[in-house]
Amino acid sequence: MTTLLKLEKVSSAYGQSKVLWDVGMQIEQGSAVALIGRNGVGKTTLLNTIVGVQKLTGGKIIFGGEDVSTAPAHGRARAGIGYVPQGRHVFPQLSVMENLTVGLAALSGRKGLAQSGIAEHIFDLFPKLTQIHARKAGLLSGGEQQQLAIGRALAGQPRLLLLDEPTEGIQPSVVKQIEHALRRIRTELGVTIVIVEQYLDFAWSFAERYHVMQRGKIVREGSTREESAAEIAHLVNI
Ligand SMILES: Nc1ncnc2c1ncn2[C@@H]1O[C@H](COP(=O)(O)OP(=O)(O)OP(=O)(O)O)[C@@H](O)[C@H]1O
Ligand SMILES: [Mg+2]
Repeated sequence: MTTLLKLEKVSSAYGQSKVLWDVGMQIEQGSAVALIGRNGVGKTTLLNTIVGVQKLTGGKIIFGGEDVSTAPAHGRARAGIGYVPQGRHVFPQLSVMENLTVGLAALSGRKGLAQSGIAEHIFDLFPKLTQIHARKAGLLSGGEQQQLAIGRALAGQPRLLLLDEPTEGIQPSVVKQIEHALRRIRTELGVTIVIVEQYLDFAWSFAERYHVMQRGKIVREGSTREESAAEIAHLVNI
């Protein structure tokens, strides 16, 4: 197995207030991993730190064998880290197609990657996006925006895709479609996936490994195939 992402004693803070404490994590290439924990434990901060939106105050981030700890966010995107942030953050005034095009920025300067526009497989994964390609993103439903946010991240042809609570506030039928698309992104495109998820059922059905955060620390990790969600529910539930 090859390690795609390795965090070593990663720390981060908002001003004087430390939020991440010596976080260690190892993500194998091709795997699907769930990061779980109660509200406010630091899950989003950890993803922001991995993508470079949030500054590291200590430790190291190694991606694809290279130390990216001090690389700017756009440099990490170019290295192949894709991000679907919590709350989706699509550009409301831009059309679906324009939002997808923004995702192409991660390709600039990368060797050996096709840059001929939005790859067809994105529309194949999310057929709805074809139908609504000209619509302003601000007018879309939450589920449509989520599909667009995932499509935008895929436009940058990531090797690693980080998703922060992609099922939050989305109706169950669309959650199923998103789960199905994520499985295909993994199996057909070979993208490694780390997903922040509050629903253990979803985490267990999608990921083969889990990491639990409490107060800015990873307090437990393991295999979702060897342990049941019930065994760790007490660490996650309020
Ligand atoms: N911009 C900020 N400035 C100061 N403190 C912040 C900021 N963003 C988050 N925090 C604090 O950092 C801690 C971790 O927040 P974070 O958003 O990473 O948690 P989370 O696990 O993603 O929570 P949720 O499940 O609600 O999304 C919380 O105590 C939060 O109040
Ligand atoms: Mg969060």
